[in-house]
Amino acid sequence: MSAQIPSEAAYDRLRRRQWLAGEARADGIERRDLLRLLASAGAVAALPAGALAGAQRASAAPAPAAGPPGPAGGATPAAGPVPGIVKPLPAEWFVPRGTNAEMRFDALRGGADGGPVGRHVPVERFFVRNHTSTPLIDAADWRLRIFGAGLRGAPTAGQPVEFSLDDLRGLPSHSIGALIECAGNGRSFYASQQHRTVPGTQWTLGGIGSARWRGVRLAEVLRRAGLTADAVDVMPAGLDPEPVVNGVNLGRVRRPLPVAKALDDVLLAYEMNGEPLTPDHGAPVRVVVPGWVGIASVKWVGTVEVADRPLYSPWNTDSYRLFGPDYPPGGSAPLTTQVVKSAFELARDAVLPAGRTQHLHGRSWSGAAPVRRVEVSVDGGRRWRRAELRDEPRPGNWTRWTFDWRPERPGPYELRARATDRRGNTQPEVSLFNREGYLFDAVVVHPVTVG
Ligand code: MTE
Repeated sequence: MSAQIPSEAAYDRLRRRQWLAGEARADGIERRDLLRLLASAGAVAALPAGALAGAQRASAAPAPAAGPPGPAGGATPAAGPVPGIVKPLPAEWFVPRGTNAEMRFDALRGGADGGPVGRHVPVERFFVRNHTSTPLIDAADWRLRIFGAGLRGAPTAGQPVEFSLDDLRGLPSHSIGALIECAGNGRSFYASQQHRTVPGTQWTLGGIGSARWRGVRLAEVLRRAGLTADAVDVMPAGLDPEPVVNGVNLGRVRRPLPVAKALDDVLLAYEMNGEPLTPDHGAPVRVVVPGWVGIASVKWVGTVEVADRPLYSPWNTDSYRLFGPDYPPGGSAPLTTQVVKSAFELARDAVLPAGRTQHLHGRSWSGAAPVRRVEVSVDGGRRWRRAELRDEPRPGNWTRWTFDWRPERPGPYELRARATDRRGNTQPEVSLFNREGYLFDAVVVHPVTVG
């Protein structure tokens, strides 16, 4: 089978030709609507699951766990800070942000409840990013349905190739350590550091988590489903309620992957940190796309379309691209790789004692390559010293580091951490502005008081 698959470059050339020739498909959504969405930064509502229709619908339809947020909800919202998220969100671990829960970096240092957190974030502390709400899916009824013109015999959405969870578990399994990071992670710093207000969830740096994922390679499943050399794009779609923005139903959360990436390192994960996936993180099966923006890692995957032409969805074209004066008039290419970032495991505005050595801890990461160097400044960015790396830098994961600092004089200080990856990508002073505030990579100012 693999002999039929042309090289990555050949696929990409074909995909680009088809895109330019206007052969892309965008089912269920008008170009006009997508353009309208561009201009809007409205709140996202969700249709009730019962109102969903169309080919993407799987019979293992979700029962919204806690009722989707917004006027169309109907069900009772979960008690707790974020309606639609199932797991408890204690304030010492999370900051609620709309339908999402941001992880608190300072909580990784431990506290009354236990010691410091290791390289991977425990499931109960892992951030949650939901466009609408977490569905509860019965794993016994769940099927992965694969269809499209890029498969032998071109099975349709109505008569797809199906895999149960047991089928997937019966295939050779594969494990990876990988980060999931929202493309908007760090967005709030466009306003607080660069005086540019951008719409969307105002994450600080906790829209990220690292876990050990186990599952089956998407490549393995696609080959068994009958992948052909005509395949161009592979589009997983989620089973969660469909987001509605300013009255426009965007359909299932879905985002096409070029087939070359789909065959490279993408996983259909059914375990997270050694346990079956939990509802909020995509149970029973989610996609994990190492190094790429989090939206690619579709949770609660129900269908995968394998198309012989480029596919078009709101999540790979008009959102999750960069628009602004520094980008081409039509916007950048769809976002793929994440940028370099660093965070201290310390509360903002923490109060530290004078005259005592502080063991500062932090983490740095990049979607492009392992982090090779981290420098820290404690004097507003004038002088920088190397931090000590505590992990063997690995592709697709973050590197923990420490930095000893003995502040003598009481008063306000600004801490900064700056990472460089093995490709030479480093954190700039200022991030290039883009209208949606994606990919904030500048050095973050971390204020503390020595008292
Ligand atoms: N998949 C579906 N079906 N629905 C979603 O809302 N959110 C995406 C992605 N996959 C999303 C999804 C985004 S934007 C991110 S950052 C990650 O899931 C978050 O994964 P997590 O909630 O497990 O941390």
